[in-house]
Amino acid sequence: MISDGKAVITVEFTREQQTLIYRMTGFARRSLSLSPLQTVALSMAASAARSEVLPVSKSAETIKQMLRPVASGNGTYLLKIWLTNQQKDQLKRITSISHSSLVVAPDEWNPTYNETWPDESNELRIGEKITLVYGKNYRPGSEGVCIIALPSDKSNSNDVFGTGRHPATQLSLELLESSVRRGNRVLDVGTGSGILAVAAARLGASEVLAVDTDPDAVAKARLVVRTNDLEDAIEVKLGSIESADGIYDLLVANIFPHVIISLAPAFRRAISPLGTLLVSGIVSARADDVIKRVSAVGFELVEQRSQDVWQALLFIKTPD
Ligand SMILES: C[S@@+](CC[C@H](N)C(=O)[O-])C[C@H]1O[C@@H](n2cnc3c(N)ncnc32)[C@H](O)[C@@H]1O
Repeated sequence: MISDGKAVITVEFTREQQTLIYRMTGFARRSLSLSPLQTVALSMAASAARSEVLPVSKSAETIKQMLRPVASGNGTYLLKIWLTNQQKDQLKRITSISHSSLVVAPDEWNPTYNETWPDESNELRIGEKITLVYGKNYRPGSEGVCIIALPSDKSNSNDVFGTGRHPATQLSLELLESSVRRGNRVLDVGTGSGILAVAAARLGASEVLAVDTDPDAVAKARLVVRTNDLEDAIEVKLGSIESADGIYDLLVANIFPHVIISLAPAFRRAISPLGTLLVSGIVSARADDVIKRVSAVGFELVEQRSQDVWQALLFIKTPD
């Protein structure tokens, strides 16, 4: 359904369209909003190119790619959503032009890295050794690798990603368990709550640097590190890969695929010869593209794991 408000046109997605979007992007997206002016301009561009597709992007280059009849191999990731008859009719009333589908550039949608935190009574076992303990139940020295993930705390960035319940985090924890070696130096890019940094230290890493571009995440990660009594082993910094000036045995990054692809050359520079790159947060529909583009900058895929629509990939840095 398309509702034509004064300042915004909202395309409400059907259940089938929402399922497709989730499967292809990992976003739980219910609708898409555009301004009427933007919609008419995009529609006119489509009409000039004799295309029935309504292109949705902020970039002129991407719009050209959307309207080009031949699919291009290495361009922006695009998602086609066929419109229902009702959506077509309503859109035509606004633009006067018939469109059969929307093509969107989902990497331009603002990703939100938020999670609702569980209450304090929960515990979660992951892999062979990892137990996530929420809130007051944490007792230092419990059996196995014990991670505290903090309870709901309204005053302290409650929505930061990294409760350990998302498949992308769980896959990362499982692969960390099998790849961290005692004494390793580990870099966690996009640390969120700090959960993977804490896991790496508990699994034997002697030095961990955790970075995140979101100040709320940095505050939460510092709190998690402090609560786990790991301040000597883990440093948390605001920023991204450029904040890391050392060389690491293992780099872990649970971030969306387009971010991983764009940071892959910098990841390679930060990893020691034959070091390990663990990436997660990759929706299965994007995995082949990520493998191809990360391999192209000098990595070899050694393990691929999936859960639900998500995948995590383990690479070894190939020699120069
Ligand atoms: C999916 S969360 C992962 C959190 C945690 N590592 C986990 O596995 O549960 C991704 C995190 O990456 C951060 N982020 C996004 N883009 C980034 C970038 N370019 N550099 C560093 N951090 C980034 C976000 O702020 C967010 O906290």
